[in-house]
Amino acid sequence: MIIDVKALHKVYRNGKIEVEALKGINFSVDKKEFVSIMGASGSGKSTLMNILGCLDSVTAGEYILDGENVAGLKTNHLATIRNKKIGFVFQSFNLLPKLSSLQNVELPMIYAGVKKSERREAAMSALEKVGLSDRAKHKPNELSGGQRQRVAIARALVNRPAILLADEPTGNLDSKSSVEIMDIFQQLNRDGATIVMVTHEREIANFSNRIITFKDGYLISDEKVENPTQAGRDN
Ligand SMILES: Nc1ncnc2c1ncn2[C@@H]1O[C@H](COP(=O)(O)OP(=O)(O)OP(=O)(O)O)[C@@H](O)[C@H]1O
Ligand SMILES: [Mg+2]
Repeated sequence: MIIDVKALHKVYRNGKIEVEALKGINFSVDKKEFVSIMGASGSGKSTLMNILGCLDSVTAGEYILDGENVAGLKTNHLATIRNKKIGFVFQSFNLLPKLSSLQNVELPMIYAGVKKSERREAAMSALEKVGLSDRAKHKPNELSGGQRQRVAIARALVNRPAILLADEPTGNLDSKSSVEIMDIFQQLNRDGATIVMVTHEREIANFSNRIITFKDGYLISDEKVENPTQAGRDN
């Protein structure tokens, strides 16, 4: 078990207004699972992802990540854990516009203090994994949306995180690019990656092995996908 969440509550407070975004969530994810999270807008999906990704703290409950209870930790300690354990992919890619693909992928390793020659090599090999070795010197605005997301995935993977989290990774992509991203996720998953992904689209969720559905801050269903759609052209 790599993720274990128990009675998880999250309340946002803005002055006098409180929003209870998560109202007691329980679930766990095993290593090497590929899980989708679905649910209407405002149901708590991104709130959960931000907590799973150690980007935000919990209000109450437990979050055990790879054997460590991170629920009570302060932001700076969370950041350390995030750098070690989590790769995050966002809907809007979040690449730095002035940096090349290679430099964007190198960034997490700079923060981690990896030396230059090693960084180059690891970043190139991550770009290779997502099929972009020939775009290493391109800047984000010289890439298609699908290619930008592949750079973001390479960046998320380069520190070999325990979990890959993706919040609507195909939200800004056309259907062909979306399937390419799902192909990469399925390959990574076959190679042993644990993936949790939010999506609005059932068709995208069907590439994963399990679908968890949220409604109004509650987890309302958790089902296995019997025959996941295969994105790869060669299987
Ligand atoms: N920083 C915040 N401060 C206050 N309220 C917030 C904050 N972030 C989210 N919320 C509220 O928490 C609830 C859950 O939001 P969340 O972003 O998790 O939804 P979501 O399921 O990701 O929706 P979407 O599909 O639109 O991305 C919403 O009611 C939202 O308005
Ligand atoms: Mg969201």
